[in-house]
Amino acid sequence: MKPSTIFTSFFAALLLAACNQQQRSAQDTLPHLVRQGDATQLIVDGKPFLMLGGELGNSTASSLHELDTVFGRLHRTGLNTALVPAYWELIEPEEERFDFTSIDAAVAAARAHSIKIVLLWFGAWKNSMSCYAPLWVKENYEKYPRSRAQYGFPLEIMTPFDSSNLAADRRAFAALMAHLAKTDAAERTVIMVQVENEIGMIPSARDYHPEAVKQFGAPVPAQLSGYLTAREATLHPALRGRWEANGKKTDGAWTELFGEGLETDEIFMAYHYGLFVEEVVRAGKQVYPLPMYLNAALNSRGRKPGEYPSAGPLAHLIDVWRAAAPSVDFIAPDIYDPGFAEWCAQYHAAGNPLFIPEVGMSDDNAARVFYAFGEHEAMGFSPFSIEDIRTPSLARSYEVLRQIAPLLTEAQGKGKTRGFLLSKDNSQRTVEMGAYRLTGRHVYTYGWSPRAKDGSPWPEAGALALQLSDSEFLVAGTGVAITFSGASGSDTAIGIGYIDKVAFTDGKMVALRRMNGDQSHQGRHLRMEVGDCDIQYVKLYSYR
Ligand code: DGJ
Repeated sequence: MKPSTIFTSFFAALLLAACNQQQRSAQDTLPHLVRQGDATQLIVDGKPFLMLGGELGNSTASSLHELDTVFGRLHRTGLNTALVPAYWELIEPEEERFDFTSIDAAVAAARAHSIKIVLLWFGAWKNSMSCYAPLWVKENYEKYPRSRAQYGFPLEIMTPFDSSNLAADRRAFAALMAHLAKTDAAERTVIMVQVENEIGMIPSARDYHPEAVKQFGAPVPAQLSGYLTAREATLHPALRGRWEANGKKTDGAWTELFGEGLETDEIFMAYHYGLFVEEVVRAGKQVYPLPMYLNAALNSRGRKPGEYPSAGPLAHLIDVWRAAAPSVDFIAPDIYDPGFAEWCAQYHAAGNPLFIPEVGMSDDNAARVFYAFGEHEAMGFSPFSIEDIRTPSLARSYEVLRQIAPLLTEAQGKGKTRGFLLSKDNSQRTVEMGAYRLTGRHVYTYGWSPRAKDGSPWPEAGALALQLSDSEFLVAGTGVAITFSGASGSDTAIGIGYIDKVAFTDGKMVALRRMNGDQSHQGRHLRMEVGDCDIQYVKLYSYR
């Protein structure tokens, strides 16, 4: 070999090694999920990231000329993350001709305003329906068949029991992820992906497409029955209950394992939706492995499967979804119904982390967000139709949370935070943290505010408490007063040494005001008024 050839190949090898290294470090720094203690954290640019988010209304991201204005408003509202739809019909207007103009425009607007994106794949299913499927899919219903209701009536829902439907959705999703890999791996503006949107059958609880009918008569696949046996101890009680009541069989048809009824229809559908989604997620992760989750329309108000979208990624079906779609990272609730705290608890369970991709727009979100992060170590919070927000209260909460985010993420998974969410009907809550008992009360319970008694509705009050050391706490929130005493069994009295209202600049705590006298009810409690949004530091001491 000539010396010049040796030199050239040596140089090429070096270059290749450098490229591989670069590729590896891009992989290492891609957004990903890690466990810290019993919490799940989203790592973005090498650090844990709390998504202070909001979801755009469904059609907003198709108005490319408005995106810059919209993202500007989101930035002023203090968001660090926007949930933005990716519309299949715009991305693949003709079969296999892809156009990512809408994605590139959203990413550019987000970057211009320092906001990260969670992309929502409005693919085969959006709120059960297949309205975002391109027209060439909708019209060619022989190739891309619909689900059917019981007596054969076609629904505008692509059936998950058809391989052409799967191939088309999977190909488009993979193309989207490949585009992100090419255009966004360096900057990583897109940090996570929601696959489909509120999957579920409505009004029929299950699909009666001929292939679905055939599968319903077939034995329950070993992939699910094996899961039931292997995870028996941790199965959701609703699923375990049905399986046990029917004799805990591992072989047999769906009705043999789970009994007759809509609930079994739902289990069957969830499994088959799961198989479909697994293929889509896997294809996407293969080209660009971002975290991927599913969102659910809730089974609220005592409705039955089919009255709500049956078989979605719901808490009571989590095992079925996990068995069928192990590549999905977690499931997430869209909370529009009353009972925010209860919904949070249902979805922060069985190893599933809490992320709230949608919550109805309300001034109460300014309080709820503290509860979600404090009590449930949430990864993120995101009111729906965020571009319509007109009140500054959420912006104030996000500003406070932004300041304490490094402390919160450091504490996650270590049992050091708790949350309070209080209302007129539920005005007090006691929790224990280390050697202390903290009782949070809605400040209106003191009756000092004229609005407390004049019949006007009480705004929700919310706070999180973060234990800093054996005798120090940070409390952040709005409308809550907290008293401190010894934990159960303790015989020491606990006093408030002092309280400071504080702020964090460049990670350093700065005292803004000493909160004593009337502001601490003469040393009896720490208090944040309704309408204020504070961070307060309290130093406790004990006496006898
Ligand atoms: C829940 C859906 O996921 C959103 O896309 C939107 O349709 C809202 N409902 C509307 O309330």
